[in-house]
Amino acid sequence: MGKTTDSSDAKAVGEAVDPARLERDLAFLATLGARDDGGVARLALDANDTQARLWLAEQAAALGANASVDAIGNLFLDLPGSDPTLAPVVTGSHLDSQPAGGRYDGALGVLAGLEALRALGDAGIQPRRPLSLVSWTNEEGARFAPGTSGSAVFCGVRGLDETRAIRDADGVSLGSALDECLAALDAAGIPRRPLATPMHAFVELHIEQGPILERVGAPAGVVEGIQGVSWFEVTLSGSANHAGTTPRAMRRDALEGACALAASLREAARDEADRVRFTIGKFVVSPGSVNTIPDRVTFSIDLRHPEAATLDALSASFRLLAGQPWAGCQATLTPLSRIEPVDFPAPLTALLADTAEDLALTAPRLMSGAFHDAIHLAGHCPTAMLFVPCRGGLSHHPDEHVDLDEAVAGTRLLAASLARLCA
Ligand code: GLV
Ligand code: MN
Ligand code: MN
Repeated sequence: MGKTTDSSDAKAVGEAVDPARLERDLAFLATLGARDDGGVARLALDANDTQARLWLAEQAAALGANASVDAIGNLFLDLPGSDPTLAPVVTGSHLDSQPAGGRYDGALGVLAGLEALRALGDAGIQPRRPLSLVSWTNEEGARFAPGTSGSAVFCGVRGLDETRAIRDADGVSLGSALDECLAALDAAGIPRRPLATPMHAFVELHIEQGPILERVGAPAGVVEGIQGVSWFEVTLSGSANHAGTTPRAMRRDALEGACALAASLREAARDEADRVRFTIGKFVVSPGSVNTIPDRVTFSIDLRHPEAATLDALSASFRLLAGQPWAGCQATLTPLSRIEPVDFPAPLTALLADTAEDLALTAPRLMSGAFHDAIHLAGHCPTAMLFVPCRGGLSHHPDEHVDLDEAVAGTRLLAASLARLCA
C-alpha cells in the first residue's frame, strides 16, 4: 500500500477530529429533507439532495480544497498533496437517502470524510498524496433503481446513457433530474471533472446497518468484503373479471398466482445457515379495484449472498419456478441488476486493523450485508470500508441512530487511516 506515516502522526490526525463539528454537521444535514418523524427523505437528485451537494461544495474553501463534479453528478473535494503527480487517496459515501430513511446511512460517511480532511489540516500534516472526499450519486436506488449509479458509472461498470435513461415512479428520467442538479452546481461555479480518474485507494466509512458490532460492544469494524446482490422484477399476467360473478374455474387471478409464486420463491431461498437474504419489498396489484379480479401483479426480489455461485444457483431455480403456470397465470422473471460479491484486499484491511490497534479501538472484522459504492470501487483501486454500529442494527428507517461517541471513534479511525495512506 506504499509508505505510511509513523503512527504518532496518524494518531495526531485521529485526535484532531472534533466531535462538536461532526455533531453540528450531522444535525445540519438532517434538516435537508427532514421528516416529521425525525427521519430524512433526501431522494437522489431531488431539491434537498442538490442543496446538500451545494453545502458540501461550499466546505471546500475553508479546507483549501477544490470542488468539482463529474458527468454523473459525483461531487469531489480535492485536497492537494505535496506531490501532485501521485494518485489521490479517496474517502466518501452518499448523501441521498431512502424515502423513510435515517440521518446516518451515507451521510455519516461523507461527514466523517469531511471531518477527516479538516483533522489532517488541524494536525498540521501536509499529506504527500492528494486526499479527496467524494459524494457518489444515487447510491440508494430508492428513486431511480438500481442504485450505486454514481460509482457504477464512474468505474465503467454501467454506461452513462443507460443510467440517464432510468425513470422514477413519476416518469422523470435520472438524466433530466441530474441536469437540474448539475445546473445548480454550475451556477455555483463548480467545475466539471472527468470520470474514472485514478485512485491510490478508496476507504468508505458507513454505519453497519446490522446488529454485529452493537452485540459485541465494538465502536468500529473493519469490513472484509461485501456480499453480492441480484435484483429481479416478477410479473404475473392473468385476466380481469367481475369479483362477484366469476366462478373459481373461470378465474385467472394474477394476485393468487403471485402469492403462490412468492411463497415458493421464498421457500427456494431458505437455507439452513441463514446466509441467503431474500426480500420482496415492492408488490403492485392492477387494476387495484376492490371488486375486480387482478389481471397483473408486479413484485421485486432483492437476493443477496457472499458467494456468486449461490446467487447463480438461486437465480436458476427462480427461473424454473417462474416458468411454471401459477393459478393459470403466466409469470416472467426479469433480472434488473446484479452486483458481484467482493473481497477487499488484505493489505488495506490490515492497515485499517493496525490503525485501530494504534488508537486502542476494538474493531472486529466483518462482511457487509448491505451494498455500498465501495463494491464498484473495489474493481477500480484498492478499496476497503469501516463500519460504526447503529442502535439495534436498525437502518432504512427514520429511527436509525448512531451514538456520537461511536461516530467520533469511527471518524478518528478513518482520519488516522487516511493519514497513513496519504503519507
Ligand atoms: C443499500 O442501501 C442496500 O440496499 O444494501
Ligand atoms: Mn448507504
Ligand atoms: Mn441505504
